[in-house]
Amino acid sequence: MKKTTKPSKSTEALDKALSFLWKIIKELFQGTIKNTIPWLWCFSWLALVNVLLYLDLEVIAFKWAGVEKLYEKAPELFFIFIYLPIAALGFIVWAIKQIKIKQELAKRLTNAFLSSKIKNYMGKVPNFISDYPVDEHTRKITLTSESIPIETFKMQKKHLEAALMIYIDEFKQDIEKGITSIQYSHIPMPEIFDYNLSNVKSKCTYVAGCTRSKIVSQSFKSSPHLLIGGQTGGGKSTLLRQIITSLYLNDDNARFQLVDLKEGLEFQTFKNIKRINVVENFGDMLLQLGKLDTELKQRMAKIKEANCKDIDAYIKKKTTEKENQLHGRANSFFGRKYIFIDEAAEIFLGGGGVKLENIQKVRKVISRIARLGRACGMHLIIATQRPDVKALDPQVKANLTSIIAFQMPNLASSMTILGNGKAAQIPIVPGRAILRSGNKLVDIQTPFLSIEEAEKLLEPHKEDDSDSKKVVEKKKVFKKKPDNFIQDKNANNSPGGI
Ligand SMILES: Nc1ncnc2c1ncn2[C@@H]1O[C@H](COP(=O)(O)OP(=O)(O)OP(=O)(O)O)[C@@H](O)[C@H]1O
Ligand SMILES: [Mg+2]
Repeated sequence: MKKTTKPSKSTEALDKALSFLWKIIKELFQGTIKNTIPWLWCFSWLALVNVLLYLDLEVIAFKWAGVEKLYEKAPELFFIFIYLPIAALGFIVWAIKQIKIKQELAKRLTNAFLSSKIKNYMGKVPNFISDYPVDEHTRKITLTSESIPIETFKMQKKHLEAALMIYIDEFKQDIEKGITSIQYSHIPMPEIFDYNLSNVKSKCTYVAGCTRSKIVSQSFKSSPHLLIGGQTGGGKSTLLRQIITSLYLNDDNARFQLVDLKEGLEFQTFKNIKRINVVENFGDMLLQLGKLDTELKQRMAKIKEANCKDIDAYIKKKTTEKENQLHGRANSFFGRKYIFIDEAAEIFLGGGGVKLENIQKVRKVISRIARLGRACGMHLIIATQRPDVKALDPQVKANLTSIIAFQMPNLASSMTILGNGKAAQIPIVPGRAILRSGNKLVDIQTPFLSIEEAEKLLEPHKEDDSDSKKVVEKKKVFKKKPDNFIQDKNANNSPGGI
């Protein structure tokens, strides 16, 4: 029979010491990678130790301890066993503190899992693996899954948040590795973020929302078109309202075409405001989009003719060309044009006796603006409850470079807008959304601007009766001189020439 030898106490102690040392090394390694080590404190300590060494204070210390001979005989041993640990004490103390925090967290997690009944058929709860920062305010706990499905974690989200005193952003599971991760923060997401025009720092930018710690802005220069999706009541129209108001008030040359075929209620605020044209029925929309199409072609032709790559290069060139005294005019002619569509499905799906060929025409223009708009400063902002292929052309969708997704009713619709299931997990908080810009996804609370506030901000820009008369007179002039159409209209800041 084989004899099983029990490890001696000293071997056990050595094992424990080595495993503790390994944990310290791991913490230091992770801390270096994630840049969470308090470098200033640790290096200040290191510097202090070196100063003391320089002053030969260690000799006095060895004398005082009565081991000066040993020190003189083996200075290398002194360096390895005394100098190094003392010099690195700042780092070591930090690492031990991290280990302690994690041990404490592991205990709290086990208790939280037990109380919320997150355990497998054998009664085993998930085991803590690690807890590391993701960014300034978010961390990620990794656990062994113990064959517990992710749905069980999701169902107990509120319970876990209360037990662990954290705010959970998301659960993820890697079935192959048997690992579940919980992304969380100690700072709650704001439930309301009041609109403030001073948060918008420059022309053609808008505030998409705020995160736990900062305001997130987007620019139409870098991301020319925007798609806003989400189920009813999420906050799409409210977001459009604040984007239009910001863009309008920050750029005197910007012009706006607003399309709302949903009974025209959402854009009432913007009716009779200079430089803004609102259409509420298919016929008017067709007419205005036809004009936009012509303008797109004219802009493209001008940019090409001047050998420029886009509108910004064109304006720069015209501004620097001394012989061109019409710089102001060129600027105005090429002012940015924003086309806002609230509920795209109303356009793309037609209905209400709209001819199919007219829907095709509209689709073509929108598709052209989506493709070519970036170069000539024409931007599409489309909001829809259903961002699927029936309600939005895939080619148009592919060109909508920024996406703001409010809560989606299910995984399929979330996949359609974001390419993942995250929009279905957004909590039911009006204004809560996910911003997708490039490959980055950011949780945001969109700014809230009430209709009354928007009306107040836009009040000074309302057209008075004399303006309306001027428009009528201008229209007569345009009929006579079609070539000057866009230039003249823009130079006079009159509405409708969009
Ligand atoms: N950012 C926000 N912060 C706080 N409350 C908001 C915010 N956005 C919207 N809300 C609230 O939610 C309500 C619905 O918003 P909104 O009309 O913009 O939704 P929607 O997505 O356009 O809905 P629908 O698809 O039915 O048109 C608003 O009346 C407002 O009270
Ligand atoms: Mg709406």
